[in-house]
Amino acid sequence: MILLHLLPFVLSLTGVARAASCPCGYKDSNGNVWREAIQSDFTQASGALAAVNANWIVSTDLEEQSPLHIQYTASNVFEYQDALGLQASAYTGSGTVNCAQIFTNRKDILYGSFRMRAQVPSVPGVVFGFFTYIDDSQEQDIEFLSYESDYYQSVWYTDQPGSTAGASKNVIVPGADFTTFGNHRLDWLPSKTVYSYSGNGDSGAAVSSSTTISVNVPTTPSEFILNVWSNGDPGWSNGPPTANAIATVQYVDLYFNSTSLSAASFSATCAAAGHVAPCSV
Ligand SMILES: *[C@@H]1O[C@H](CO)[C@@H](O)[C@H](O)[C@H]1NC(C)=O
Repeated sequence: MILLHLLPFVLSLTGVARAASCPCGYKDSNGNVWREAIQSDFTQASGALAAVNANWIVSTDLEEQSPLHIQYTASNVFEYQDALGLQASAYTGSGTVNCAQIFTNRKDILYGSFRMRAQVPSVPGVVFGFFTYIDDSQEQDIEFLSYESDYYQSVWYTDQPGSTAGASKNVIVPGADFTTFGNHRLDWLPSKTVYSYSGNGDSGAAVSSSTTISVNVPTTPSEFILNVWSNGDPGWSNGPPTANAIATVQYVDLYFNSTSLSAASFSATCAAAGHVAPCSV
């Protein structure tokens, strides 16, 4: 009993040690090495919002859009089902649509492997986004459109601007159920963006998918954003939602290089640590 009681504490110490003991970075499943990491575990004992506050900023701005304005609202970012809830609120019938957005407090991210484990909203009329952004032509998007009849297996991958041939792909993953927790991933490399999914279908069988986009690949240091929104545009988000539409996020792991930690200074830190193996991620 005592050991069981101590287990969360020991695990949390291990978590801290893990982050601190990767002086030679993180090696991903494709063999790419990344110098830095932001690991946000929204299921942690201290709560989802503590994980948000450690590395993210909650948006509170008004975005004037058409036909409806979006009001990003702090109270739409909350602890939900032992994870993070991001909500676009049921539309009242007038005024703005209250929506949710968090973005990294860093804007210096240049290439990396970005993952989340999440459930998509099932109330029609919202977009759930997981994306890199610095401006409208330097942006890589994973987007789920809940108005689509097959929203539980449909995802949009785009290297903006999406009007360029080959820059936007609507991928249907047969057998997938995005309303159950699944892993969504974006690997940003200099020559391409690889978008992927792995999860379990309703039958419990493993389902996976991978899609590459190699036009409009961003080259500018960026931030990372998650949001759930609707502006009522019949050409994209549709909606606004008539009930609260909530995305549930268990974790976000960002492994990346940045313009703030040079290759030389990363190498020096790794050498000082005796060239230990990078952590596998
Ligand atoms: C990221 O940093 C590692 C270590 O410095 C380097 O080997 C790798 O080439 C970098 N990746 C990219 C895409 O620049």
